[in-house]
Amino acid sequence: MGSRIEIDRCVCYDVRFETLKCALDERPRTLDEIRSEFGCMDCCGMCRPYIERMLETGETVFHQIILPQDV
Ligand code: FES
Repeated sequence: MGSRIEIDRCVCYDVRFETLKCALDERPRTLDEIRSEFGCMDCCGMCRPYIERMLETGETVFHQIILPQDV
């Protein structure tokens, strides 16, 4: 039985990437605007590479660790 990681949110602010993507689809925002409006990236910052990847690809659920140098 394997366990598969599932990363789908900024855990510090409990903001799902899907929720963020919907908001950005309605009105695009810069990373700074995302930070000030949703809080994401403002605490540990571990969500930043996922948010950057989401902006690139539209993915909102990730099954691998993405490090800042990966994006
Ligand atoms: S996971 Fe988003 S700031 Fe920590």
